[in-house]
Amino acid sequence: SAPRPLTGAQVLVTAGPTREALDPVRFIGNRSSGKMGYALAQALTELGAQVILVSGPTALPAPSVAHLIEVESAAEMHAAVMARIADCAIFVAAAAVADYRPKQQAPHKLKKHPDTINLQLVPNPDILAEVAARTPAPFTLGFAAETEALETNARAKLERKGLDMIAANLVGGEQGGFDRDDNALLILWRDGQRELPLMSKQLAAREIACILTERYGASA
Ligand code: C5P
Repeated sequence: SAPRPLTGAQVLVTAGPTREALDPVRFIGNRSSGKMGYALAQALTELGAQVILVSGPTALPAPSVAHLIEVESAAEMHAAVMARIADCAIFVAAAAVADYRPKQQAPHKLKKHPDTINLQLVPNPDILAEVAARTPAPFTLGFAAETEALETNARAKLERKGLDMIAANLVGGEQGGFDRDDNALLILWRDGQRELPLMSKQLAAREIACILTERYGASA
C-alpha cells in the first residue's frame, strides 16, 4: 500500500464559516461552504494524520476524521482550537472566520421598528495569527481569499501572520473559490511557490496536503 507520511502526526483543521449571533434567531455570516477544509481534513487523514476537524456550520456530511468538533461562533472556534493545539504538529486554518461580531447579543428576538438601526461590531480574535505566534508553534498553513493582487497580498499575509505556508485563491471572479466545487490556487512558502490550476477541491486538497507534507518534513 501507499506510504502514509503523516502517520502519528496530530493535525488540527478549521473549516467552514462562523456565525456571529445578533439575537437567538439571527446571525452575521459568510459564504464559506466548508468544502475546501473538509477535503483537506480528508486528504490529511489519507496521509495517515490524526485529524481534529473544528468546523463551523456546513451542509456537508461528516468526514471520516479522528475527531469532529462542531462550533458556531469565532469565539467557540477559538476556544476549541486553543484547548487542543498544544498536542498538534500541524495547524491548517481553512475556516472563513468572521472578522467581527456584534458588540451586543440580544437575549431575546429583536423587534422590528420603522427606524434605522446601528450595529456595533467588535473584532474577533485572529485564531491563525495566535497559533502561529505560540512557542513552540505548530507548522501552520493559512488561506487567503483575495479579490486582487493575489501573490502580493498572500505573501504579505504569510509574513505578517508568521505562517509556514499559505494557499491563496482569487474570489469574486471566474476562478473558483467560495461555495464552489473547484478552485485554482497559488501555494506560497518562505522560499518557494506552486500554482495549482483550476481543479476539484478534492484534487486541490490532495496536492496541498502533498506540498504541506514536504514543507513540514523540511522544517523538522
Ligand atoms: O486575515 P485573513 O482573514 O484574510 O486571513 C485568512 C486566514 O486566517 C485563513 O487561514 C483563516 O482561517 C485565518 N483566520 C483565523 N481567524 C480569524 C481570521 C482569519 O484563523 N479571526
